[in-house]
Amino acid sequence: MTVLLSAAEVARAAQILAEGGTVAFGTETVYGLGADASSPSAAKKIFEAKGRPEGHPLIVHLASAAAFHDWVASDVDDRARVLAEAFWPGPLTLVVPHNGRVAPEVVGHRSTVGLRVPNHPLALELLAAFGGGVAAPSANRFGHVSPTTAQHVLDDLEGRIDAVLDGGPCSVGVESTIVEIAGGPPALLRAGGLPTPDIEAVLGEKLVDDTMGKSRAAGMMASHYAPNAKVVLTPNPEPTPGDAVIAPFQVDHDPAIVLPADVAGYARNLYSALRTLDVKGVSRILIAPPTQGALLAAVLDRLAKASA
Ligand code: TXA
Ligand code: MG
Repeated sequence: MTVLLSAAEVARAAQILAEGGTVAFGTETVYGLGADASSPSAAKKIFEAKGRPEGHPLIVHLASAAAFHDWVASDVDDRARVLAEAFWPGPLTLVVPHNGRVAPEVVGHRSTVGLRVPNHPLALELLAAFGGGVAAPSANRFGHVSPTTAQHVLDDLEGRIDAVLDGGPCSVGVESTIVEIAGGPPALLRAGGLPTPDIEAVLGEKLVDDTMGKSRAAGMMASHYAPNAKVVLTPNPEPTPGDAVIAPFQVDHDPAIVLPADVAGYARNLYSALRTLDVKGVSRILIAPPTQGALLAAVLDRLAKASA
């Protein structure tokens, strides 16, 4: 049984984490499936619940940027600290050398750890109440679309996890931007909820694009973010019977879901739309992408993966 916890039950959620259990919680990006990041046995439960292969590193969530130094190697690049202070809490994950406090299973036995402070009041309350780091990948079955509501989490993981802390619908709706600063020049591993130009403005330098490179984020293969239906990207959807449509404009077809034309609104509602149409058992989902806006790179990346 999985218990659904309200915002008033943060202490209980923190208690479950302290006892080595699993708690899914809302963040501004997507829901995460959390467990104690210092505990190998707790981390194992995450992989089991998701059906995720071990070796895929998890993001460790912290209550504040002040906790950064509790997890990173002493010789961490100062540019990572600068980005943490500029953008946390927020949709930025920093991959940096760790100091050994994180359980090896959480980082796939790597020398680096992905760290992030989520910008969500209830998530921050939970992290502060727990006190340590919370390892949390997106709270979906491996390879599925990420969840943006507590109900989405239950749809995928009911009975497989201890609890879901209901933080309401996610405000950003796509996963965090991942930047690696670990010896080489700062590199983008995944486009996400924080626009790359904002990061480059603070750094005063361009990020190396490593989204396709050898050190790209594991778990970014094509099968990810994919609904069961075949997804086809097209600026002008011409559906036939049995198809569904997602578009940022009105479409004369049923079923169709019209998303906001602004890319932030589109991003916020995209995963929910994919899940809604997927359970209808349609054969194809024709998707018209948004055309401009700060989160365009992240949305086009997820659409490309959904259609792969
Ligand atoms: O917005 C988000 O990032 C959400 C919320 C819950 O914080 N989390 C999320 O987690 O999307 P997940 O596991 O679905 O994706 C995390 C990505 C994976 O592609 C993983 O390989 C990468 O982060 N990652 C984590 N630690 C890493 C490391 N040390 N080196 C390289 N990639 C890492
Ligand atoms: Mg994921």
